[in-house]
Amino acid sequence: MRITSIANQKGGVGKTTTAVNLSRALALRAHKVLLVDLDPQGNATLALQKTENPQGREEECREVCPGLRLLSFPLFLRRKGHRTPTFSLLQEAWEPYLEADRVILDCPPRIDAWGLLGLEASDSVLIPVQSEFFAMQGLAQMLQVVEGVRSTRNPKLNVEGFLLTMVDWREPLHRDVVEEVRGHLKEKVFWTEIPRDLKLAEATSHGLPAWDYDPASPGALAYLQLAREVDGDEP
Ligand SMILES: Nc1ncnc2c1ncn2[C@@H]1O[C@H](COP(=O)(O)OP(=O)(O)OP(=O)(O)O)[C@@H](O)[C@H]1O
Ligand SMILES: [Mg+2]
Repeated sequence: MRITSIANQKGGVGKTTTAVNLSRALALRAHKVLLVDLDPQGNATLALQKTENPQGREEECREVCPGLRLLSFPLFLRRKGHRTPTFSLLQEAWEPYLEADRVILDCPPRIDAWGLLGLEASDSVLIPVQSEFFAMQGLAQMLQVVEGVRSTRNPKLNVEGFLLTMVDWREPLHRDVVEEVRGHLKEKVFWTEIPRDLKLAEATSHGLPAWDYDPASPGALAYLQLAREVDGDEP
């Protein structure tokens, strides 16, 4: 089993979109995936509310599609009457579902008790970086936090890679940003880039992964390519 947190303390960079759509793409590749909503905002849960859930009921853990389960850690905590998320409570929450071979954690845009828990519980962290002028801002701080967690609570934590999101190759500015990020972070940047694609946002507002909303959309196809890359397939 491999546990990956999708994290960046910067808000709105595509963490939840990546967590949801990468999980769906890994399930398409015959993985057994457990997606954990580790954000008290519950955005991953909202983004999947129309999947195999016709009444839109709030459930702590449910099957989204064959091969993919969604576990809402905020709901688990509420039921247990706890406010503070801890590693032992997270382990208790996912213990019944550990037949999964991939666990993806959608982390909040903060390094608080929730964000730190994601890093503490993971083998690796995948860091989405929005293609925009201040893309590199905050990354040094994020890497310091990862280093801090590695040297104290979780020595096995490694950076799986940086993922460029919302890339628009027609924008000269985006081309510069992509080159800057690749120039600084080198081979740690995934070769897959996630394009700016309105269908990704539309799919979320319909409560579906992009694959189930429009499987031919560039965003859905990019996440499938990312799943191949994460699996170590050749480009
Ligand atoms: N590749 C993309 N193309 C177009 N829109 C996108 C793309 N990725 C994400 N979005 C949109 O950008 C917004 C922020 O994305 P998302 O919620 O995934 O970011 P986040 O990092 O999880 O945010 P938060 O920090 O609040 O948790 C959403 O409205 C989402 O639909
Ligand atoms: Mg989010």
